[in-house]
Amino acid sequence: MANFLGSKTIINLSKTKKKKKVSMELWKQGAEAKIYKTNFYGKPCIVKERFVKSYRHPSLDKSLTAHRVKSEVRAMLRCRMNGILTPTVYFVNMDTSCIYMEEIQDSVTVKDYIKSVQSSKNLTEAVKTLTPLAQTIGNTLGIMHKQNIVHGDLTTSNMLLRGEPSDNKLYLIDFGLSFFENLSEDKGVDLYVLERALLSTHPNTEKLFDVILQAYCKSNDTGSKEVTAKLEEVRMRGRKRTMVG
Ligand SMILES: Nc1ncnc2c1ncn2[C@@H]1O[C@H](COP(=O)(O)OP(=O)(O)OP(=O)(O)O)[C@@H](O)[C@H]1O
Ligand SMILES: [Mg+2]
Repeated sequence: MANFLGSKTIINLSKTKKKKKVSMELWKQGAEAKIYKTNFYGKPCIVKERFVKSYRHPSLDKSLTAHRVKSEVRAMLRCRMNGILTPTVYFVNMDTSCIYMEEIQDSVTVKDYIKSVQSSKNLTEAVKTLTPLAQTIGNTLGIMHKQNIVHGDLTTSNMLLRGEPSDNKLYLIDFGLSFFENLSEDKGVDLYVLERALLSTHPNTEKLFDVILQAYCKSNDTGSKEVTAKLEEVRMRGRKRTMVG
């Protein structure tokens, strides 16, 4: 009886249920993806859609896009399992190459935060203000590399700061180029990409990168020596390339 009533209720419900339209508002568009704001069962949600690249061969584009979506979701989950903050993944649609994830509300990118500090303070004060953030970045990346997660695109736009900087809530995002690897070379390149991104986007941040590196070595106690040696190697290669042209 209970079953009968139960199923009847469901039938009635499905007959009367109206399909609710959920609106998606295009928020940002990058080279690879469109970012929409919406809600997912009432929760503020970001939809990251990787769109078709017409200049690529369709089947290559399809497999590359699928690979990036999978890499991104996998790395986000693996980070969260190891205490690194990343948005919660709500849903993945492989047909439309969309990742539905938690919107990190009240956040700013580390890029915007550094810019605002640098524009409102003199150099010494700015370095002092940004030092705790640099420590948090180094500490987070050390934990990430210890788990053999290589981000692949470490820039200050791919880090979000939530709340007050003293809250130390640093979220890593944009893991589409990430992979799992235990090679110091890959981790060294990861840090080199960050160093180049930091120095080219934000002037006078050499000291901050040193702080990042020190905190990195503390939290990645086992492998950091090899990684920093590789970083130095990659820097040398970079310099040689610039000299040779
Ligand atoms: N979960 C999120 N919560 C809040 N803001 C987000 C979130 N995800 C992305 N953003 C914002 O959107 C911007 C772009 O996102 P993201 O870096 O993932 O895409 P992208 O750089 O366009 O992608 P790709 O580098 O793969 O082409 C971020 O810099 C950030 O400002
Ligand atoms: Mg990005």
